[in-house]
Amino acid sequence: MKALILSGGRGTRLRPLTHTMAKQLVPVAGKPILGYVLDHIADAGIRNVGVIISPETGQEIKDYLGTGRRWGVRITYILQEEPLGLAHAVKTAQDFLGADDFVMYLGDNLLSYGVKQAVRRFRKERAEALIFLKEVDEPQRFGVAELGPGGDIRRLIEKPSSPPSNLALVGVYILSERIHEAISRIKPSRRGELEITDAIQELIEMGCTVKSEILEGWWLDTGKKDDLLQANTIVLDEYIKRSVAGRIDGKTQVVGRVDVTSGAVVRRSIIRGPVRIGRKSLIEDSFIGPYTSIGDGVTIRDSVIEHSVILNGASIEGIERLEDSLIGRGARVSRNDQRHKALRLMVGDDSTVEV
Ligand code: DAU
Repeated sequence: MKALILSGGRGTRLRPLTHTMAKQLVPVAGKPILGYVLDHIADAGIRNVGVIISPETGQEIKDYLGTGRRWGVRITYILQEEPLGLAHAVKTAQDFLGADDFVMYLGDNLLSYGVKQAVRRFRKERAEALIFLKEVDEPQRFGVAELGPGGDIRRLIEKPSSPPSNLALVGVYILSERIHEAISRIKPSRRGELEITDAIQELIEMGCTVKSEILEGWWLDTGKKDDLLQANTIVLDEYIKRSVAGRIDGKTQVVGRVDVTSGAVVRRSIIRGPVRIGRKSLIEDSFIGPYTSIGDGVTIRDSVIEHSVILNGASIEGIERLEDSLIGRGARVSRNDQRHKALRLMVGDDSTVEV
């Protein structure tokens, strides 16, 4: 069994962050999403891992994952020149995959449980594909499954305008080599991509056994700001333990599960967990409320922040209340003390500002 992790694509829905970084590397509770993916692959005992990269962000992905030694796996990087679809990515990786079964894992998906049990089930029951489904509120944003009365899959449709159910396809698939034949038989979709959803539908039409499992536990596609904030909330809730390695002065109050990484400095502030504060960050005269992740080298002064993700090197000063926000690397947010209040903005391409 091999693994194929998809870390190419364009990440248009997370712009402007993804103008300068790969969406799979956006941190959730201080760790890139891709890090959680690798944890799950390694935990399932898979050692041979292919990672699909794009020309734009490939180097950044390589810099983070390296050879894979940190996870005890061996990584082969596969360049996909253009993001022509998930099935196109599999086609690009065909030499790497050979005749092996593989777990295909979308690099921007986060799952509460790993894939260990599922890999075991696939090996035991021998199907051509095992897919995961989860009830969602907006099925039209995903691949959707229509099930028969016995729970068998009738049809899989990519982003249907009138979804036949609210069961979305989760971005983790276990596939056999038959998928290559199915991919060779499908055509690009309306959005011009070779869809893995269509390829699995093709497997069904070829008479292959495609099994499904309703995913227990949470699943998040981190493609948009609110999804990312939700992922941050859930992961902080589950994983953050109280650990205060940084420097905290006598006038600071730390309440609940707060992780202050070594090298961080907090003065005259209240930190109410779950919160994570990265290395070399400085917090002064501020309130940091629940579900906030602060990256490395961040400066926060005289501000109130809650339920937000602040990426490395950003600075926030004199902000009365910032919530539900995602602040990019090196961004500066500050108060305008002029008597004639006017907004002074330098906002990057594709940014969103709510005032
Ligand atoms: O998240 C689950 C959904 O993922 C499924 O429900 C859909 O059926 C499936 O098509 C997919 O939909 P998205 O539109 O959300 O996929 P996205 O374009 O965001 O790509 C998913 C990951 O794969 C992302 O990390 C980028 C990478 N990718 C994408 C494309 C199109 C590649 O590596 N190469 C590609 O060509």
